[in-house]
Amino acid sequence: MKTVTVTLPAKTYQIKIAAGLLTQVGNEVASLWSPRKIALVSDSHVEPLYCEQVETSLIAAGFTVHVYRVRAGEDSKQLGVLSSLYEELLGDDFGRSDGVIALGGGVVGDLAGFLASTYMRGISFIQIPTSLLAQVDSSVGGKTGVDLNTGKNLIGTFYQPDVVLIDPTVLQTLSQRFLVEGYAEIVKMAAISSLDFWHLIENINQPKDILKQAPALIEASVRFKAQIVEADEKEGGLRQILNFGHTLGHAIELLAGGQLAHGEAVSIGMVQITQIFEDRGLTPSGITAQLKKQLLAVGLPISSDLIGSPQFYELLKHDKKNHGDQLTLVYLKELGTADLYPVKLTAIHNFLNL
Ligand SMILES: NC(=O)c1ccc[n+]([C@@H]2O[C@H](COP(=O)([O-])OP(=O)(O)OC[C@H]3O[C@@H](n4cnc5c(N)ncnc54)[C@H](O)[C@@H]3O)[C@@H](O)[C@H]2O)c1
Repeated sequence: MKTVTVTLPAKTYQIKIAAGLLTQVGNEVASLWSPRKIALVSDSHVEPLYCEQVETSLIAAGFTVHVYRVRAGEDSKQLGVLSSLYEELLGDDFGRSDGVIALGGGVVGDLAGFLASTYMRGISFIQIPTSLLAQVDSSVGGKTGVDLNTGKNLIGTFYQPDVVLIDPTVLQTLSQRFLVEGYAEIVKMAAISSLDFWHLIENINQPKDILKQAPALIEASVRFKAQIVEADEKEGGLRQILNFGHTLGHAIELLAGGQLAHGEAVSIGMVQITQIFEDRGLTPSGITAQLKKQLLAVGLPISSDLIGSPQFYELLKHDKKNHGDQLTLVYLKELGTADLYPVKLTAIHNFLNL
């Protein structure tokens, strides 16, 4: 078992990574929680695959388990679904000393985390992420939330789990598109974190290599994300480097109207922003080509016709991560080293020149 510790001012918790960990969930949870009622929140794809073994393991360890299943997909990250979950927990007599466990991808993690952080002013919470994106990114760092019709993740909290339990074997049932999409976030973390991590992803030459190397990729990703979150839990500064590729990526994702998955849009965003900074001499030449090689190897897209339109610039100007009249771009100083580059919104068209 690999263990990564996240140490924050108000809380320290562990991220545990091991093949077969799903069957050990009961013992793991019992080492942290006294016997209690557990709301096991999952979605319609993951629940039939993995809920039974988790539930069995929890019951054997002395817990009472209620399973709550939401429809798979982003549409479940909404206030209506959350409200039904509050009612169900109340109906099942959940109190302040009970707990919530998220078993699923980033949607379930964000939704169940928000549920746990707000139900009766906050009850205990554990993450069991099952998609690659959730295992390397969304389950670590404590961001929870739901979407509004006007935008994603507009309502949310920072709420750290008591433990994150990662079993890489569950990735075998994940579709290749979601596997590759999650891998885009791994490429991002490798590019901004260290040369060692970058060398690790240089071994990925096709999608099936992602599965083979998953334990090492997950460990490197969560170690890095934990470091960033420790330094800047609430995204006041350094944590912004995790937005590498995301500023252009978000705009492209929105313009694509569902045709591009998030990770695909981020892949395009990383390549495009790196080319811009390379052209300006701020990123050493050749790095865009290295990024492209790694992304193309698994079939991720690297360009889009949607870039550069008036709507594209409008979306950039209204990005929720903008601070006042400026937008903060993330660029690579070297492979493995990122920095922030603020640009005034009025100058963004000239700066990007797309
Ligand atoms: N909290 C954060 O810090 C953070 C960071 C990044 C993304 N996010 C959020 O994460 C969400 C995206 O996460 P995601 O890509 O995991 O989406 P998701 O939760 O919708 O999962 C993707 C799909 O894979 C299925 N799935 C998950 N695990 C599976 C498995 N082992 N086998 C078979 N199918 C499986 C799901 O049912 C779903 O259909 C977005 O809502 C995004 O806003 C949050």
